[in-house]
Amino acid sequence: MLRTKIAGLGHYVPERIVKNEELESVMDTTNEWIIERTGIQERRFAKKHEETTTTMGAQAALAAIADAGITKEDVDFIVFATLSPDYYFPGCGVLVQRELGIAAQEVGALDIRNQCSGFIYGLSVADQFIRTGTYKNILLIGAEMHTMGLDFSTRGRAVSVIFGDGAGAVILQPTEEEDQGILTTHLHSNGTHAEELAMMNPGSHGGHHHEDREQFGFGDGDFEPIFLTQKMYSDGLQFPYMNGKHVFKFAVRKFPEVIQEGLEEAGLAPSDIDLLIPHQANLRISQYVQKVLQLRDDQVFNNIQKYGNTTAASIPIALNEARETGKVKRGDLICLAAFGSGFTWGSALLRW
Ligand code: ACO
Repeated sequence: MLRTKIAGLGHYVPERIVKNEELESVMDTTNEWIIERTGIQERRFAKKHEETTTTMGAQAALAAIADAGITKEDVDFIVFATLSPDYYFPGCGVLVQRELGIAAQEVGALDIRNQCSGFIYGLSVADQFIRTGTYKNILLIGAEMHTMGLDFSTRGRAVSVIFGDGAGAVILQPTEEEDQGILTTHLHSNGTHAEELAMMNPGSHGGHHHEDREQFGFGDGDFEPIFLTQKMYSDGLQFPYMNGKHVFKFAVRKFPEVIQEGLEEAGLAPSDIDLLIPHQANLRISQYVQKVLQLRDDQVFNNIQKYGNTTAASIPIALNEARETGKVKRGDLICLAAFGSGFTWGSALLRW
């Protein structure tokens, strides 16, 4: 039976380290508050005007391509997951193809808009293409340049202290080895919670999903754009919004549920997991999930302390760091899981 294996891995984080103390100088926050609520000590900031979500994704991709021992011309499909694309459209899939200098190959490029679970959704889609024999070298990237649009004033502190920039990538290939590759993927969503963690503007909603339409300051003319109004801009409604407590409540329920779902399908138990790599949303969420699943410290990998929450990039960055530090070995049972905006969530179980 054909399975999908991760044949190459790479990640890229910008050089500039921003410690919590530096944030204290631009907003009313403290190192202690951030560490206590999120576990984050520092994050990376991309170099504005020089680095973008695409360029960081390309760096991670080149590392993954080299790690897989292939050339970039061997890539036969691209999947790019991000919530912070270079352009509203077109997506980063085609931009990274151009950045890598392989546009002439004219391979397909798919953009995934599933925020924190984007990498898991991308992995699941790529897995279907590989198992059906459609593609042999899929490049899957998760990358974010959150700092392009966070509110670093005190008004935005509950969100902006959490996020950081970075990128991770994998090369996915078919394998016929019995004891290797992706065993299960499970994807879920519940749009009831769409506005609880969202960046709603610019957009076409025109107030449709909101009881208070006035808050957006729309004009009435047929020929007036509604995607971004002056009032939205002056009220800071172009920034991401998060109902932190609501997100926490669902995350700590859905993470264990979707992990158990994968384990049950594979006939395995939490004790069989060699390494759980949760999306690095918040250290408190990861610790809660670890407790519910009764996992030991050495069964869970976290690096949010160094990078903050890098959304679609967090799992591939963490997976690569775990491997670099010898925590991922051939034959290990690896569990990847994510929960986030949408709400969307998912898990993937794989044998390394
Ligand atoms: N520094 C200092 N004080 C702050 C900050 C900050 N950065 N942010 C908020 N506060 C203040 C608030 O203004 C509030 O003050 P008040 O009591 O005077 O009104 C107080 O801290 C408590 O605010 P809450 O929002 O109630 O804080 P809470 O205890 O819920 O913690 C947090 C916020 C950390 C976001 C929490 O809700 C949480 O962990 N949520 C999970 C969501 C999450 O981590 N998401 C990650 C990204 S989404 C994803 O990847 C799934």
